[in-house]
Amino acid sequence: MKRITLINGDGIGPEISEAVMDIIDASGLKIDWDIQSAGADVIDSEGTPLPERVLNSIKQNKVALKAPVTTPIGKGFRSVNVQLRKALDLYANLRPCKNLPNVKTKFNNVDIVVVRENTEDLYAGIERQVDADTAESIKVITRAASERIAKFAFDYAVKNNRKEVCVVTKANIMKLSDGLFLDCFRNVSNLYPQIAKREILVDNLCMQLVQNPSQFDVLVLPNLYGDIVSDLCAGLIGGLGVAQGANIGKDYAVFEPVHGSAPDIKEQNKANPTALLLSAIEMLKYIGETQYALKIERALYKTFEQSLFTCDLGGNLATTEFTKAIIDNI
Ligand code: NAI
Repeated sequence: MKRITLINGDGIGPEISEAVMDIIDASGLKIDWDIQSAGADVIDSEGTPLPERVLNSIKQNKVALKAPVTTPIGKGFRSVNVQLRKALDLYANLRPCKNLPNVKTKFNNVDIVVVRENTEDLYAGIERQVDADTAESIKVITRAASERIAKFAFDYAVKNNRKEVCVVTKANIMKLSDGLFLDCFRNVSNLYPQIAKREILVDNLCMQLVQNPSQFDVLVLPNLYGDIVSDLCAGLIGGLGVAQGANIGKDYAVFEPVHGSAPDIKEQNKANPTALLLSAIEMLKYIGETQYALKIERALYKTFEQSLFTCDLGGNLATTEFTKAIIDNI
């Protein structure tokens, strides 16, 4: 039986984790969940929101499913997510954004995969106050990180039968940093003659995405543009309740929804488990359990086709009722 780390999070995390475990169990796939609590709830007892045991569990199991955790404001703790990405070198942030049946959005046929570089760029955290009225942030782009993220995007495209990879930069202005990212993309792209290539400037991309998003397939971006564009793409398909994500490195992978711990609806049986479920489906594909992943995906799609929704998508089902509907469809 496959052992997988489950960080069940806080806020709505435990409720949606229960839902996803029940759905996977109903599919017939047996998983030995190594449940590790993290976040606000363990700070008092363990002194940190990310105890060493959580990292050790992921290092042992290689793969984790993660529900959201609260980042306490003003207590001096670094975000659990940022710490995880750093400690496990999860260099690729993957955000597939695809329309779901009957979820009302402005466009149909959106099926975009955003691949965001997760370790450098303006997120390297190199800032300084020059004087009282001036501050600087350094944008770091390296050949090693740019080549590996381009390679990741092309490998993903090949593995998932995607047709095109489009690189997004502002290389006309930042000729050295974004220029290097673009140059690395061009070099790597030569290794994948079967995949079409496209280059676009980030401002033009944003306009095109809100006018005609179905023209895009796989996008690969440096960290900051990737962060912004992936939220834009989440908005195209119905927002937080359905936006999935993953952080992937050479040795480890952590799959998680985009949304946070939603303390405003905690323990009210209102949370939508779809984003965590879609993240889990992507995780099952990643570990090679594609058959089960597709089985669960079909049941989820069928549930949406029946217009069965939680409140955030305009329905009236509780988390547990929505979960039961998916299980019935399996
Ligand atoms: P949030 O995503 O938790 O909530 C924003 C709004 O969306 C709320 O009204 C919430 O009820 C709703 N919402 C979110 N997920 C939902 C779901 N699955 N079903 C139905 N409604 C949902 O963002 P917020 O309030 O800014 O952050 C709350 C906490 O979560 C903060 O401490 C933040 O640091 C943390 N956070 C954690 C993340 C993670 O662990 N990956 C990611 C983002 C935020």
